[in-house]
This record gives sequence, structure tokens and C-alpha cells, in this order.
Amino acid sequence: MSQSYFFAPERWATSRFIVRCYRPGDGPLLADAVNTSYEHLKSFMVWAQPHTSLEDAEQLVRRWRARYLMNSEFVLGIFSSDERRLLGSSGFHLREEGLENRAAEIGMWIRADAAGQGLGTAVLQAMLHWGFTVWPWERLVWRCNCRNDASRRTAEKGGMMLEGTFRAYERRSDGKRDDFFYFSALREEWHMANDE
Ligand SMILES: CC(C)(COP(=O)(O)OP(=O)(O)OC[C@H]1O[C@@H](n2cnc3c(N)ncnc32)[C@H](O)[C@@H]1OP(=O)(O)O)[C@@H](O)C(=O)NCCC(=O)NCCS
Repeated sequence: MSQSYFFAPERWATSRFIVRCYRPGDGPLLADAVNTSYEHLKSFMVWAQPHTSLEDAEQLVRRWRARYLMNSEFVLGIFSSDERRLLGSSGFHLREEGLENRAAEIGMWIRADAAGQGLGTAVLQAMLHWGFTVWPWERLVWRCNCRNDASRRTAEKGGMMLEGTFRAYERRSDGKRDDFFYFSALREEWHMANDE
């Protein structure tokens, strides 16, 4: 194996939650989180469906694990400290030319009964901290539908900067088009603001 192969970090713990890559066996926790959150997720998460079976959820976490090990995509679960409950999901998604470009997009959803309590903001801050100290990211972005007030506020409170608006960026099922905000955070700026 090449010496330069990237071994992705796998886990970041805070006093409130753990962010880690999914593992085989996490399927039931994922199914519980998404099945109790459908109404909360359906407006902005295009993949949301009323029911996800245990088999489908297990298949998903295994696929994410495989892609993680292959450095294709880094989907991360947000777990309670005892890891018995999945609080949501995040990830460093390679949508900005990927690993070599050292840029990634942070995605996130928080389960319905844990949302609106400051968790999303805390997870975003943890992702930026982890991303700019342990991971090699130089640029991290957050993209959100302009109608998604919770997501926009999370990016703002998390300390990301609004770069601009992509007009008529995404087509809805009713044929209308939505504008999207683009936020970013840069490694150098993050260190200037956060290093002692
Ligand atoms: C967006 C999301 C991840 C934020 O996580 P969260 O834990 O709810 O966020 P926080 O509790 O840290 O709140 C952050 C800000 O959003 C606001 N907020 C939370 N839920 C809100 C809602 N339903 N409507 C409007 N604002 C909302 C909070 O009030 C807070 O802003 P404030 O301090 O000005 O009051 C979460 O609401 C979610 O999973 N939404 C559905 C999926 C989604 O849209 N993901 C983002 C895709 S870009």
C-alpha cells in the first residue's frame, strides 16, 4: 500500500455527543432515528421516507462504512455519549473536488426529538474543530435551501461565513426552483479565531 494513503480519522468525542463513522450493526439505531423523524426531515432531506426497514438501514451503514474506508465519502453518525442512541448524522462530503483539493461539504440532520436544543450548532462547531485540527481540510462549506431557517441559523451560529446565494439552484418536485445559500469556513481563519 502506498505510504501516502489517507487514513481518515474515525471518531471525535465531546462531553455531549460522539461523532464517528458508521459501523456494521448501527442499522437499528439509524432506522429508529429516521423513522421517528420523518415529518421533521421531509421538507429538506430529499432521501427521507416514511419508513426505512432495518435491513435497508443496515445496508446503508455498511455502504457508508465501505465508502469511508475507500476515502470516497465520510458519512458520520452523531451518537449519544453511551452510543446507544443515534442523535443525527453529519459528514464530510466530497462535493468540492474532493480529498486532494482539501475541501469538503458538511451535511447534517438532527433527529426530531433532539432538534432545536442547540445540538446542531454544537455538532457543527465540533465538525469545524475536528476538521481543521485533525483532518486536512482547508475549506469547509455548508449549503442550504434559503427556505431552511434552522439550517441557515445553524451555519451562522456555528461561525461560518455566507459566501453568496445560488439562484434557482435546485428543482422541487412541484417544478418550482429554490435558491441556496453557500457558507464556508477556512482553516487559517478558523485557527486565527480559535487558537489561544
Ligand atoms: C438544521 C438542523 C440540523 C439544525 O439542528 P438543531 O439542533 O435543530 O439546531 P440548533 O438547536 O443548534 O439551532 C440552531 C438555530 O436554528 C434555529 N432553529 C432550530 N429549529 C428551527 C426551526 N424549525 N425553524 C426555525 N429555526 C429553527 C434555532 O432557533 C437556532 O437559532 P436561534 O439561536 O437564532 O434561535 C436541524 O433542525 C435538522 O435536522 N433539520 C432537518 C434537516 C435539515 O434541514 N438539515 C440541514 C440541511 S442543510
